[in-house]
Amino acid sequence: MDQQTFEEVDRYISGLLAPEDAVLQETITSLEAAGMPQISVTANQGKFLQVVAMMCNAKRILELGTLGGYSTIWLARAIPDDGRVVTVEFDPLHAAVAKKNIDKAGLADKVDIRIGKAMDILSDLKTAGEPAFDLIFIDADKPPYAAYFEKALELSRSGTVIICDNVIREGKVLDENSPDDRVRGVRRLNQLLSENKQVTATILQMVGCKEYDGMAIAVLNRW
Ligand code: SAH
Ligand code: DHB
Ligand code: MG
Repeated sequence: MDQQTFEEVDRYISGLLAPEDAVLQETITSLEAAGMPQISVTANQGKFLQVVAMMCNAKRILELGTLGGYSTIWLARAIPDDGRVVTVEFDPLHAAVAKKNIDKAGLADKVDIRIGKAMDILSDLKTAGEPAFDLIFIDADKPPYAAYFEKALELSRSGTVIICDNVIREGKVLDENSPDDRVRGVRRLNQLLSENKQVTATILQMVGCKEYDGMAIAVLNRW
């Protein structure tokens, strides 16, 4: 198997199960036009987030790292009309592009874009007494991933699902001496998942249209 096969199979799956409508396609185009990084989740990963959101009956979703709103749109489409996605973005340009895309998708009423650093907004949400989220998707900067996860737990209840993107990094996570802060950050998260008795977790390796990577999925224990 090689990368070309992974891409062809990814397109085969998305053609069947995750076709992008015009809004999703234009969201990707808007990133290119604005010179933003092409690091949105893939269509199949967006569909994966949607399936998980529906499996946990999610009404309230928290996302760290909005970029152009591509994953946000997939998530917001999986919740009922009175549900809410709170999505956190540090870069005001990214947030502005995302807002346009989310408006175009007709999802403005379901999505609350919060501009600021993920750690600050997590603290603000806690202080404001925000009710627990049903699903949390962590996809912002990688070095503080473990800290984001621990803060996310404070905004969770028994049964809350937490998904973390980019925890394999083309296998670079195997290198315990990696000088890359992003790799060290996701390694700390993965270690935390193995040690924290409050959660039951696994990691899915993922191949496809983007580089080889993976997502961690954890559920806050019910008993
Ligand atoms: N979830 C998006 C991709 C997110 S890319 C999707 O799949 O469509 C990561 C985003 O996190 C970038 O837009 C980046 O600006 C933002 N980011 C980086 N550091 C951050 C921080 N400390 N707090 C909040 N957002 C941050
Ligand atoms: C990067 C970040 C991501 O969230 C991602 O999915 C892929 C790459 C990055 O910063 O390189
Ligand atoms: Mg990512």
